[in-house]
Amino acid sequence: MKRLSYLTSALALLLTACGHPTTTLTSPDGRLTLEFQQQEDLSGYTLRCGETPLLDFSEIGFELKDAPAIARDLKITNTRFTSFDQEWETVWGEQQTIRNHYNAMVVALEEKNAPHRRINIEFRLFDDGMGFRYEFPEQESLGEFVITDELTRFAFHDDPKAWWMPTREPYYESIARNTPLSKIDTVNTPLTLECADGRFLAIHEANLTDYAKMSLHPEKEGSTTLKCYLTPWSNGVKVYAKPPFVTPWRTMIVGNSAGDLVTSRLMLNLNEPCKIKDTDWIRPQKYIGIWWSMHLFRETWAQGPHHGATTANTKRYIDFAAENGIPGVLVEGWNVGWDGEWTKLTDKIDFTHPYPDFDIEEITRYARERGVSLIGHHETGANTLNYERQLDEAFRFYRKYGVNCVKTGYVNVLMDGKELHDSQYGVRHYRKVIETAARYGIMIDNHEPVMPTGLERTWPNLMTQEGVRGQEYNAWSPDGGNPPEHTTSLPFVRGLAGGMDYTFGTFNFDNPNSPFSRVQSTIARELAQYVVIYSPLQMASDLPENYRGKKGFDFIRDVPTDWKHTVVPQAVIGDYCVFARQDRHSEDWYLGAITDENARKIDQPLSFLDKESKYVAQIYRDGEKADWKERPYDFEYIEKEVTALDTLHIAMASGGGCAVRFKKID
Ligand code: NOJ
Ligand code: CA
Repeated sequence: MKRLSYLTSALALLLTACGHPTTTLTSPDGRLTLEFQQQEDLSGYTLRCGETPLLDFSEIGFELKDAPAIARDLKITNTRFTSFDQEWETVWGEQQTIRNHYNAMVVALEEKNAPHRRINIEFRLFDDGMGFRYEFPEQESLGEFVITDELTRFAFHDDPKAWWMPTREPYYESIARNTPLSKIDTVNTPLTLECADGRFLAIHEANLTDYAKMSLHPEKEGSTTLKCYLTPWSNGVKVYAKPPFVTPWRTMIVGNSAGDLVTSRLMLNLNEPCKIKDTDWIRPQKYIGIWWSMHLFRETWAQGPHHGATTANTKRYIDFAAENGIPGVLVEGWNVGWDGEWTKLTDKIDFTHPYPDFDIEEITRYARERGVSLIGHHETGANTLNYERQLDEAFRFYRKYGVNCVKTGYVNVLMDGKELHDSQYGVRHYRKVIETAARYGIMIDNHEPVMPTGLERTWPNLMTQEGVRGQEYNAWSPDGGNPPEHTTSLPFVRGLAGGMDYTFGTFNFDNPNSPFSRVQSTIARELAQYVVIYSPLQMASDLPENYRGKKGFDFIRDVPTDWKHTVVPQAVIGDYCVFARQDRHSEDWYLGAITDENARKIDQPLSFLDKESKYVAQIYRDGEKADWKERPYDFEYIEKEVTALDTLHIAMASGGGCAVRFKKID
């Protein structure tokens, strides 16, 4: 980690002529201006970019249980300004080195009247956006307290186009909606906005650690002022807190293009530095697994004649992984608890007892000899109490067999029959699992999570998460599966929160057990999505027999899961996009382009390549007659020499795409 500078500008109180402290903060490049203001008895902030107003006066404050709200009649007792500029190295990610550069202002507030409670708001302005959080300092007038509502608002000056996921749909497994902001429901963040002047904004949060997740809803019908809505506990409480206490950061990225939202590192910068000392064991990687066969209803999680997690079947997957240099093999349905109705909050799930036909000792020995690791699976059925009782034992058990990556799952809308996943209750549980796993040297792939907020900077063993409508829907969803448009909006909405374990890589589009549903894609698009949709763990989800002997599989074998640089040279959210990323461990670049249901021809200049170098472009593209409905297998592979001065002409079929590896030759 390289520290460039850390200036604590000691200018604690800049008093203006009339005796009020300065409450204006600008971003390091001077483009963004935030003003803390007081209007009548309310406190709030405004934000503008140059002369363009983005947020009008937006209220701050809290309602508390059995105590007056902390919102009105607050006086500013102090403002403190600091600047920060530091580069840090990611353990893994979309970008190797990140600059954390901001100006900060802490506004200290105190109630004018008794009991004179105090609250601070820290604002940080980066060149690419804003973050702010509340701090309740230790004080005599505030002991333990209960938040019943957070009054934070985002009062948009205009009515931009919005891409949003409704909060009412569980697990964030949604297809993004696109309406004017004034027409949204109660929505999850990230909430993505496109302004009339071409600017892009995204609201989210960072460092959700011991608090409830934030959703947003219009203050009143048709309004473009959004108010924070915190997921409650079952008793209606939003957050239990005790000073000193800080909330998560409320964030807004401000970009000139949709791609700027993706390449902003604001969320990670607002999380704390890595707490794991030795991170050598944390490895982004690809994996295959006994998984898709269950979603296709060809094998079962439960015991019986079609049980997937058998010793022989697992060895078959291990052989394929070893042949193809794929490090991980996930096996689901290996442990006691899957027979019967495992989603009905059973106590029978047992994380240390394999089914008799799964010889874990023999399987892990076999895998080790072939340089492959088992990826463990803990489906909890959202019975977190049952899981927490076994947590240490469960991780110790896997460690004994050399398993250092575990997929966790929480299928059930209520945890323990009572609490929502993204309430403070759920947030605390997930946090406990991540920290316990870190102690055992275990990486986590968390399904049915709370929306990610960048904790992977602090705990880089939290690799990837679901919280996305992924490939599984294409196996069985009564609505037919994910339309091609889905993955053209995903990186710009849910993706802004962090990696997604979507699990691409279908090479066989026949689905005899659920013919109403299918993977709405082409071979070339399946490949391109490994570049477009970021995850440090990427699954090749199809069955080994569908990959053997297929040229397209070379791309899956080659594509990295850890990057030095990421650029998004073209994107129209919901229509098409082009991503290019440079491998962290070589000089090669990879490109992924995908389109929605419309076939498209686009030109992509290769100016992101190194100017001095030559590359062989290995191009995996849709065949001339390809389209996702009738001819998804029509696919071509060509090679040609290119440099940074060339332009790639990309023709994509309906629901198609294009994947390219630029292999440096000199
Ligand atoms: C839902 C997960 O998202 C999926 O990947 C998994 O196979 C099932 N739960 C069973 O745990
Ligand atoms: Ca579209």
